[in-house]
Amino acid sequence: MKMRWLSSLLALPALLTTTCYARRDYDAHDYYAVHLRPGVSPDAVSSHLGLDNEGPLGQLDDHYIFRAHEPVFEYDHITTAISDLKRRRRKREAGAELPHVLDDVLLAQKQELHKRFPLVKRGPLAIPSPRAPALAPRQSYPPIEEAVQEGIDLAKKLDIQDPIFQEQWHLFNHLQPGHDINVTGLWAQNITGHGSTVCIVDDGLDFDSNDIKPNYFAAGSWDYNDVGPDPKPRLIDDRHGTRCAGEVSAARNDVCGVGVAYDSRIAGVRILSKLISNADEAEAMNYAFQETDIYSCSWGPPDNGEAMEAPDILIARAMVKGVEKGRGGRGSIYVFAIGNGAAADDNCNFDGYTNSIYSVSVGGIDRKGLHPYYSEKCSAQLVVTYSSGSGDAIHTTDVGQDKCYSNHGGTSAAGPLVAGIYALALQANPKLTWRDIQYLTVLSAVKVDQPSDWTMNKAVGKEFSHQFGYGKADAYALVDMAKHWKLVKPQAWYFGPWLHVRHAIPQGEKGLASHFEVTKQMLKDANLERLEHVTVTMNVEHTRRGDLSVELKSPSGMVSHIATHRRNDEKRAGYVDWTFMSVAHWGESGVGKWTVVVKDTNVNEHKGVFTDWRIKLYGEARDASKASPLPLPKAHDDDDHDVVHTETASAHTTSVAVPTETGKPPGNPDDHQHRPVNGKISTTKTTAQPTPTPTTSQDDVASPSPSPTETESSSNFLPRPFPTFGASKRTQIWIYGALALILAFLAALGGWWYWMRRKKRWMERDDYGFEMVDREDEDEGVPLANGFGKQRKRRAGELYDAFAEGSEDEDGNGVFGVGSDDEGSESGDGDEGGEMYRDEKPGRERI
Ligand SMILES: *[C@@H]1O[C@H](CO)[C@@H](O)[C@H](O)[C@H]1NC(C)=O
Ligand SMILES: *[C@@H]1O[C@H](CO)[C@@H](O)[C@H](O)[C@H]1NC(C)=O
Repeated sequence: MKMRWLSSLLALPALLTTTCYARRDYDAHDYYAVHLRPGVSPDAVSSHLGLDNEGPLGQLDDHYIFRAHEPVFEYDHITTAISDLKRRRRKREAGAELPHVLDDVLLAQKQELHKRFPLVKRGPLAIPSPRAPALAPRQSYPPIEEAVQEGIDLAKKLDIQDPIFQEQWHLFNHLQPGHDINVTGLWAQNITGHGSTVCIVDDGLDFDSNDIKPNYFAAGSWDYNDVGPDPKPRLIDDRHGTRCAGEVSAARNDVCGVGVAYDSRIAGVRILSKLISNADEAEAMNYAFQETDIYSCSWGPPDNGEAMEAPDILIARAMVKGVEKGRGGRGSIYVFAIGNGAAADDNCNFDGYTNSIYSVSVGGIDRKGLHPYYSEKCSAQLVVTYSSGSGDAIHTTDVGQDKCYSNHGGTSAAGPLVAGIYALALQANPKLTWRDIQYLTVLSAVKVDQPSDWTMNKAVGKEFSHQFGYGKADAYALVDMAKHWKLVKPQAWYFGPWLHVRHAIPQGEKGLASHFEVTKQMLKDANLERLEHVTVTMNVEHTRRGDLSVELKSPSGMVSHIATHRRNDEKRAGYVDWTFMSVAHWGESGVGKWTVVVKDTNVNEHKGVFTDWRIKLYGEARDASKASPLPLPKAHDDDDHDVVHTETASAHTTSVAVPTETGKPPGNPDDHQHRPVNGKISTTKTTAQPTPTPTTSQDDVASPSPSPTETESSSNFLPRPFPTFGASKRTQIWIYGALALILAFLAALGGWWYWMRRKKRWMERDDYGFEMVDREDEDEGVPLANGFGKQRKRRAGELYDAFAEGSEDEDGNGVFGVGSDDEGSESGDGDEGGEMYRDEKPGRERI
């Protein structure tokens, strides 16, 4: 304890020169993350609340941390104060109508030390899979003599004396030639990561290891768990981060092996060993973000095929901030391991970190180039690289002065290799932006010679597979391309309107399709030249989420399986404002018809309704001078799903359960009628709806009619569908007259009640209009308290307004898929070795 205090003290001068990272004591205080209107004094707001302003929240503009003197269980100072103000305004108390400091609070979030889900390290033991034991005994292969000699010569030439270098097959594979990352040619050119910095965001970094020490970058390191500047592994199972770090930056010396970028600097930010708050995690994602180039993250929500989790709004904002302002504005590079849940039907599009457009998602292949049982598929996967499987794993550094480890694996081990390759690319060309890195990854990836759903993406001339992304990373090819790479123009985007479907999903193979036509003009107005990432945010109700799957078809015919069936996902929920992402449409123009097909292939008692969706196209700007900064993620993609501009949004839904007259396959959405998107399904089902077949008309006849009529016209007071009650016309007039009177009375009553309610609501709005801060309104320049709190903008015109200042689409859950619904899967169900530490590490599974 004393030692730690002392070491913290010694590191203080270093800290003061950069940003001062607060040490928060969650046992002694309550903390709040608040987002204030720009220009507002945080001290004025905090003192009004009786809280202390602790200063800025990491790198986020206008975000602060407020501290309460004492922690109060289940009490929220800010929400309570705002509710109180609201109440006083509602009661029209004197003075309450005046502008108030609390009106400047755009977002307030009490910081809790539990997360909505545990972050799980993605090592090889994560999936107890009966199909494949996590660590199979290592096989031995007959060595290929020349290759072995080549490895020895290589080491000599590069002066690599590290004892396990020859075992590091992922760097040079002399048993399965060609199955390595193809890096040695770069080392021969002295491209070894000089000047690049990688941060391992994980469970610590053993900077006392002789393999790490020479490259350790202390100023980029921090421990958010046992707060202080040293990310030292402290728990017995805090080994994951050091192993990942060794893959990137183990020094060329006489200890263990070497990293991909063995002359790069390596930092560690420790977040996985205890629970941390959202504010801490947000800070971690921007830690020393001018000095750090690449953040390597081998963790995420559980890979059990049940979780559907996205980063909190603060973390999502930190990542946007990172790509926008990090690395001198060229953008922090976030590398994420894709997840190990393939054996449990998990898919990385159900993980909001890996399916973020701001992260590079890396999957695994094994030393024979095969797909390992654990590595997940998804349309957001960019690339794969080597990891465990086929009887071997990654050989790297371990915790301890000169300890090595030979069983590092899972997608956890794949991510850092790509982070290392990026460190080499940045040495070769430090100007690359975060998007250039993604382009280079797509264009230099080498197709994996394995059967899969490889489909040619003609726009980039590369095949894409949901299992392997664009293929495996080839360090040499990537860095070679990086040297002469012409930087891409800034990012631009087009956000489509919400398209209402509101239609039951037929069970079976066919699904329910909805279309949206993107015109040339829309993209021209959006300044968007060609696509990179495509996201679809959607709402689907379903009584068993795992039954659903979703396809996205682009105008070129390329199909992304953005959501897949998950057998373990029993959740009685569909998709709630969830954002799926695809990189399969990279390079396409985006112009033309986009189709989303929602399927419920399990024919059972579980059913659902496809509510609505919206597409977002991100890519390269046409005119760099007109590019605008990225939108800041908002807490909700949108609150008003109800308003859709029907003239411009020409989405059509198809109920494929109904056979069409044309005889074309009913699953083909093209046959079907255009349906306006205002949700009035019944009125628009005309052309393609078959005329009632004999069966249906029989049903009509059989439908209960109190008293069948003998003679049609003469005895009926009203037309056919109205029953005659077997009475005379005169009696019918009486009956219907009385009914009409009753109905009129009821209608009047209802109308009066409705009017009163509305009036009440409008009065509340007009006078007070203050809405809760958690429903954030960040439309710049629309003051919350000027009479109409959350003044909802209409969606009309939105199509051509995607770039308008303060456009309501400036959401980022669009981007990060906020709006998840799994409120925390159980923690500690892992079979990790650190059982005894479970109490200390609630919620972090050891894998
Ligand atoms: C690997 O690197 C070499 C140069 O060292 C290069 O010629 C080759 O194209 C690269 N890729 C493959 C797949 O061999
Ligand atoms: C390799 O590059 C580094 C940094 O650019 C330089 O300091 C070093 O002398 C170079 N080594 C050789 C052998 O050229």
